[in-house]
Amino acid sequence: MSLLLPLLLIAGIGCTSAAANLDLEAKTFVNQSSDRYYRFYNEIAAETYSANNEDDFDALFSKLNNVKRIAEELVSISRQAGGFNLDRIRDPETKHAMQELRSVGDLFVLGDDYFSSVQMNLAALQTLATDKDIEPYLDGANMPDQDDSPLAYYPDIQKIVQSSRDADELKYYWEAWREKNQLWASVNFYTIVQSYQRAAKILDVPVHRLWYRSDSTEILQQMEQAMTELRPAYQELHAFVRRELHQKYGGDVVDPNGPIPDHLFQQVLEQAWAGGSILEQYYPRAQLPEFDLFVNHLSAKAMVNESESFYTSLGFEPLSGDFHRNQLKEPNEDRPNDDCRPSIFDLTPHVYLMYCEKVSFRKLMQYHSHMARVYYAQQKRRLPSYYFKAYNLEFAVGEAVVLSASAPSHLTGRLSAKGVLSDQALMNRLFRMAIHTILSIPQYYVHTKVMHDLLSDTVDMDTVNRHYWRLLEQHAGIEPPSDRAEGAIDFPYKFYVNIDQSFQTQKFISEILGYQFYRQFCRKSLSRGPLHNCDFYGSFAVGNDLKSMMSLGSKKPWKEVVGKILPNNTGLSSLALLEYYQPVLDWLKKYNKDANSKIGWTNTKKKIV
Ligand SMILES: *[C@@H]1O[C@H](CO)[C@@H](O)[C@H](O)[C@H]1NC(C)=O
Ligand SMILES: *[C@@H]1O[C@H](CO)[C@@H](O)[C@H](O)[C@H]1NC(C)=O
Ligand SMILES: *[C@@H]1O[C@H](CO)[C@@H](O)[C@H](O)[C@H]1NC(C)=O
Repeated sequence: MSLLLPLLLIAGIGCTSAAANLDLEAKTFVNQSSDRYYRFYNEIAAETYSANNEDDFDALFSKLNNVKRIAEELVSISRQAGGFNLDRIRDPETKHAMQELRSVGDLFVLGDDYFSSVQMNLAALQTLATDKDIEPYLDGANMPDQDDSPLAYYPDIQKIVQSSRDADELKYYWEAWREKNQLWASVNFYTIVQSYQRAAKILDVPVHRLWYRSDSTEILQQMEQAMTELRPAYQELHAFVRRELHQKYGGDVVDPNGPIPDHLFQQVLEQAWAGGSILEQYYPRAQLPEFDLFVNHLSAKAMVNESESFYTSLGFEPLSGDFHRNQLKEPNEDRPNDDCRPSIFDLTPHVYLMYCEKVSFRKLMQYHSHMARVYYAQQKRRLPSYYFKAYNLEFAVGEAVVLSASAPSHLTGRLSAKGVLSDQALMNRLFRMAIHTILSIPQYYVHTKVMHDLLSDTVDMDTVNRHYWRLLEQHAGIEPPSDRAEGAIDFPYKFYVNIDQSFQTQKFISEILGYQFYRQFCRKSLSRGPLHNCDFYGSFAVGNDLKSMMSLGSKKPWKEVVGKILPNNTGLSSLALLEYYQPVLDWLKKYNKDANSKIGWTNTKKKIV
């Protein structure tokens, strides 16, 4: 670099065209910024991962100062990039890179405000779910030992929703949590919305580009296309669920033709995998084998290795010895019974995976999903660092791999699973997955749309609750359990989780696109049989396609990158997901027809006042 750069500069001076000069200047800036950015990336990775001793104030202070200094450097890259007139840069690659560099300052451009306010607002939103501040129903009469200590939404109330069949109890928690949190939620939440608007203005980038962290013009349109394709199937499932709830709770609680009250809708969603669920009689849990038995001969580390071997079977390199020694983190004081979640820390090229001692089928699947990020980092590490973000495609790849690794045919082959291949077990598994997946997608969409509209100022905090319920009714056929106030904020706790990573949008895209990838991988590996039992383990052809997509990072536009896997890429589509669940959808259609159920819903009678 030291040799070439002066030469290029000299060549630039000799050139008469101002435009060529600008292009060269831009190119040089981009080149230098790549190195600078990479260096800060490394420093942030080191800071974030260094041991954190909360009692050592000197260390904490210097840590904060270090982060502030790095933040300032990133902001200065953004500002300098902002000084280039994008319209006058002719080389498309330089222009694309310049656009990426404009946003690297992110919320740091808010300066001290970021550290003194925004960071705390974000932290406050994360605690909404975990603060133990809700009095138990009937003063704890239903709790073990009639314990009346206050509860948190996660995990306490969520566990109750997973097992309760009492509509009054569910309604109590639905309302109590919102009543307790709405003021605190709305104050902190609205500050976040305004921070994004302010930061976008300073960076001179469209607010949605900053929010989604990618070229956003089409995201919502594409999601709408997928929603339109999904609607007929969703309405069949909705009609079936509503009929069951109506029979159980009566017409005073559930209108047989109207939307479903949210507290009961959440109950169905949370109980999708439980034994004794609200829909138990059709697909008894007892007909499904215990999935945890398939993994109980493995240790936690062996499960991590098992997920690695899925990727090596596709032709990826085994992870280095260094990864196994230094980047695979032992859990801190975790015990095998703890409900810990494996976590991943990804600042490519630095990736750390923290595993849990607990051995369960669910954990094995989480490792398969996290490994997509580990391997993505491996493939994109040679790119200029501003291309490391990969449009969140890591999550869709993880989803596709989980679909394959949890397919009954894979389980019998790799884990000697018994009993998963009977017709009953296949259908039972599919039915439960369908409830969990298909019922969630419209909610991810509504959460995305609410945030989108707030950011673009087409709705404000005074009217957002009404807007939220209108969207939920229209797209998901859900209504509130009771009349609600316009000034309330009725979002569920999930809305706020990892909100700064637009987690709800990420979930929507990775679900829909995950099934698109999966179907394509199944075709590519020449798998036969129904889509829901296909396993592409061992296919080098799939691995090659994956590598050609992963190694692009965000170097090319979204469509082109995804096009490495989906040759006729026309954007997000629900058709693959619908093919996967076809047997369940056929069953539902027949059931609804025989029961003469209304498909769709009449307007809600609940009011927002
Ligand atoms: C920067 O320029 C050097 C040569 O001067 C080149 O080797 C390197 O690949 C360039 N980096 C980028 C990111 O373009
Ligand atoms: C996991 O794989 C690593 C690297 O191949 C190996 O060193 C380690 O012993 C394996 N662990 C288990 C529990 O199989
Ligand atoms: C892509 O589209 C073209 C033209 O519509 C069609 O001929 C081709 O079979 C499609 N390819 C795949 C893999 O679907």
